[in-house]
Amino acid sequence: MKEKFTFRPLDVSDVSFLAQYAAECDGISDYSEIKKIERRLTQRLKNQNYIGVIAMLNKKQIGFVDGIIVNQTLELNEIYVNKKYRRKGIGEKLLKEIILMAKTKGINRAFFQTEPDNIPMQKLGEKFGFKLKVLTYEKILE
Ligand SMILES: CC(C)(COP(=O)(O)OP(=O)(O)OC[C@H]1O[C@@H](n2cnc3c(N)ncnc32)[C@H](O)[C@@H]1OP(=O)(O)O)[C@@H](O)C(=O)NCCC(=O)NCCS
Repeated sequence: MKEKFTFRPLDVSDVSFLAQYAAECDGISDYSEIKKIERRLTQRLKNQNYIGVIAMLNKKQIGFVDGIIVNQTLELNEIYVNKKYRRKGIGEKLLKEIILMAKTKGINRAFFQTEPDNIPMQKLGEKFGFKLKVLTYEKILE
């Protein structure tokens, strides 16, 4: 049977899924540190300018996108799809949904930043019509 993915706005029931992802990205496994992230995310959800979409398979969260509206612009923060479900159009649908959400708030510009070697994200953005605008050079000062 074909898997049926659903999408809905992020809410407080997603905090532990998001915190788990954030902790994994930063190599954090300590329980109290994860709880701290959860508290921070719960606070963030109270910000009217913070928006996000969650992807579900049955009752399980499998991906999300979030961002913040600043100066009439949607600054995309993070987008993630569980490895098992990649290349099935979920990333694209998440982007589509968050952009729709932003548009209903009158926003007409969005951007994201990604690493030079993050080809999936770059390709996803390009497929969606994002154009490369800024190159940032960095030097670590020792
Ligand atoms: C980036 C990410 C969200 C894409 O999610 P996804 O559900 O696999 O994306 P989709 O299936 O919707 O793919 C849409 C398009 O993106 C591009 N794309 C996605 N994965 C790709 C890959 N591995 N290589 C090249 N292009 C890719 C393709 O153009 C694809 O369209 P196509 O399948 O018709 O060729 C996912 O790879 C991910 O979670 N990566 C880890 C987290 C991350 O790096 N987030 C970005 C931080 S800025």
